Amino acid sequence: MRTALVTGATSGIGLEVARGLLEAGFLVIGTGRGEARCEAARAQLSKNAIFLQCDNSSLRQVKELAEKVEKILGEKGLPLDVLINNAGCYTSKRAITEDGLEMQFAVNYVSAYLLTRLLLPLLFKSPSAKVISVSSKSHYFTNFRASSLKPPSPYIGLLAYKRSKLALVMMTRELNRRFGSGSFLALAADPGLVNTDIGLKRAGGLSRLVWKVRKDFGSEAALPAKDIVYLATEDITIKKYCYFYGRGEKRPSRTSLNEEKCRKLWELTEQACMEYLTL
Ligand SMILES: NC(=O)c1ccc[n+]([C@@H]2O[C@H](COP(=O)([O-])OP(=O)(O)OC[C@H]3O[C@@H](n4cnc5c(N)ncnc54)[C@H](OP(=O)(O)O)[C@@H]3O)[C@@H](O)[C@H]2O)c1
Repeated sequence: MRTALVTGATSGIGLEVARGLLEAGFLVIGTGRGEARCEAARAQLSKNAIFLQCDNSSLRQVKELAEKVEKILGEKGLPLDVLINNAGCYTSKRAITEDGLEMQFAVNYVSAYLLTRLLLPLLFKSPSAKVISVSSKSHYFTNFRASSLKPPSPYIGLLAYKRSKLALVMMTRELNRRFGSGSFLALAADPGLVNTDIGLKRAGGLSRLVWKVRKDFGSEAALPAKDIVYLATEDITIKKYCYFYGRGEKRPSRTSLNEEKCRKLWELTEQACMEYLTL
C-alpha cells in the first residue's frame, strides 16, 4: 500500500487532495490545526483516513507530528511515498510565532522545511518518493534576501505571503539538487486561483473584502487537487524547473533559479530549525 501525508487536509485544496489519494488507494494521513476540524474532515472523507493534529506555526508541534508519522508508518513497516506540503494561511495583521518567526513564513514555509527534513529517512525508504509543496503564482513577485527569515517590518500581508511561497519553490529546487534521484523527486505545484476561504480566515478590513470578491473567480478546490494527485501518482519526469502549473512544468521566478540563493535559504532555515532537526 502506498502512503501519503497531506498537511492542512481539513479544508480547501488539501481536503480534496486527501480525498483523491484515498480514492487512488493510498493510506492517507491528513493533518489539521484543530481537533474538531480534523474529526470533521475524517468524517467527510473516510474512516480509513488517519488525522493528526498539528499547528504548523509551532516547530515543536511539527517535530511531534513527524515523530507520530514515523511511529504509525514504522509499526506498519511502510515508507512514506508522498508528502504534500499544503498547509497555508494568509494573515493581514503581523503575527509572530512562539519561535519568533513571522506567521505566514512559519506556517507556509518553515514548517514544510522542518517536516520534510525530519521525514527524509522515511521518504528515502520509498522506491519512488515525492515531496509536493503547494506554492503559488505570487512567488514571481518578490525576492529573496538573507534577512528573509527575520519578521519583516513594516509588515505587508501580501508581501509576506509571496515570500513564503517563493521560499517553497527555492526549497523544492534545493531538495532536488541535494537529494534528487530516480527514487526521490521534489515538485512545487501552483494551483492557480482557487475558491477557498484562505483569505478570510485571518484577514480583516480591505484584504478580506478583496478576497471575498476575488475568490469567486477561482476554480473549485477539486480541480487543482486532481492535478496534484496526478503529480503524486503518475510517473513524472522533471525537464528543468520542478515547478508545475496544472500538469505542465513551467519556468519559476528568476530568484528561485539562483542556486546560490536556494542554498543560502536552506542553510538559514536549517539554523532556525536546528533545535528540532533530529527525530
Ligand atoms: N486558494 C488559492 O487561490 C491558492 C492559490 C495558490 C496557492 N494556494 C495554497 O494552497 C494551499 C491550501 O490553501 P487553500 O486555498 O486550500 O486554503 P484553506 O482551505 O484555508 O486550506 C488551508 C489548510 O491549511 C490549514 N492551516 C492553516 N493554518 C494552519 C496552521 N497554523 N497549522 C496547521 N494547518 C494550518 C487549514 O486549516 P483550517 O481548516 O483549520 O483553517 C487548512 O486545512 C495553501 O498553501 C495556499 O497558500 C492557494
